[in-house]
Amino acid sequence: MQTSREPVTSGVVDSQAIDLRAVQSQVDAVLDGFLAGKACAAAGRGHPPEVVQTVRDFLAAGGKRIRAQLCVVGWHAAGGQGDATSALRVAAALELFVAFALIHDDIMDDSARRRGRPAVHRALRARLGADERAERLGAGGALLVGNLALMWAQELLHTAQLEPGRQRLVHGLFDAMLEEVMYGQYLDVMGTGCGADDVEAALRIIRYKTAGATVERPLQLGAAVAGAGAAEMEVLTRLGLPLGEAFQLRDDLLDVFGGPDGVCAPGSGDLREGKRTVLLALGLRRAGRVERERLVRLVGRADLAERGAAEARRILRDTGARERTEQMITSRYEEVLQVLDGAGFPQAVDRALRDLAVTATRYTS
Ligand code: IPE
Ligand code: IPE
Ligand code: MG
Ligand code: MG
Ligand code: MG
Repeated sequence: MQTSREPVTSGVVDSQAIDLRAVQSQVDAVLDGFLAGKACAAAGRGHPPEVVQTVRDFLAAGGKRIRAQLCVVGWHAAGGQGDATSALRVAAALELFVAFALIHDDIMDDSARRRGRPAVHRALRARLGADERAERLGAGGALLVGNLALMWAQELLHTAQLEPGRQRLVHGLFDAMLEEVMYGQYLDVMGTGCGADDVEAALRIIRYKTAGATVERPLQLGAAVAGAGAAEMEVLTRLGLPLGEAFQLRDDLLDVFGGPDGVCAPGSGDLREGKRTVLLALGLRRAGRVERERLVRLVGRADLAERGAAEARRILRDTGARERTEQMITSRYEEVLQVLDGAGFPQAVDRALRDLAVTATRYTS
């Protein structure tokens, strides 16, 4: 396990710019070192090696690492300089938390693929071969891998060698983030299939399941490592929540319509599940009686075929629900720029946040 405290500063920042790619590699190096330690410990105790390997493969498969980058930028925003070891460790903890959240999310959403590969529960199911209980057991295995990823995230956090006076705030923010995500995911799961046209309710779900954990809390966690006060935290909330909402609205559009260049093939998972997204709520609200009934009949069907999905897409386009969702992303992006205009962050931080705001609203996979 990596617990040494060698100062890690190179590549993270100079006075003009924060090198986000360097941040990503440094976070990945922390994750590699930590999981190498876990692999050694598992070997020493005779634990099955494939658990750590599954988490390593999940991280190696990709991911935007946007939460890790936001965490380190949040650290700089609050004046963090020099030894970035603690901030990088908290950033790495966030990416292990994401691994947990996505592994569990794919079970809950019955998603077959993640980061271009079979979802963990599907991969474990395949290992179990023809056993008739393979689906349930594969899901059980994935729940446990996810639980370990979350525990390891917390271990990284607790061994981040934070300044004693800052530990309480950092741990409290992490706990708050976890609680929000669980409530948000609960609302998402239990609201599935109800086909409601309540846009406000759909926005509440994404506020909790995504906006906090994807943008607001990562920024605040980094800032807390640097000793930020309440005023700085408040600015990061004003920035983080609209950007986090926009991030999920983009994800919802990609799920239904795919990316602009075919990079992300339309999956229609949300349509098949009948996910209570803002996009669907807008479509239901704007549709006339006939199209509304059609949409209600199409979504939330396990056997939704491409033809039905194409019809649902057409309705979401024709009602203007797609366009309105794009506008909601744009208005949130503009809100973020306004907050940045008044925030007075150092130039390097401001530039990095503007870059990350583009990534969070325009990503295609
Ligand atoms: C996926 O998060 C979950 C959502 C909140 C939509 P990301 O889109 O950041 O997933 P990776 O880490 O890039 O795979
Ligand atoms: C997931 O939302 C939010 C999480 C807390 C993980 P989605 O279910 O829309 O995420 P994807 O589309 O599967 O990545
Ligand atoms: Mg999902
Ligand atoms: Mg989900
Ligand atoms: Mg989605």
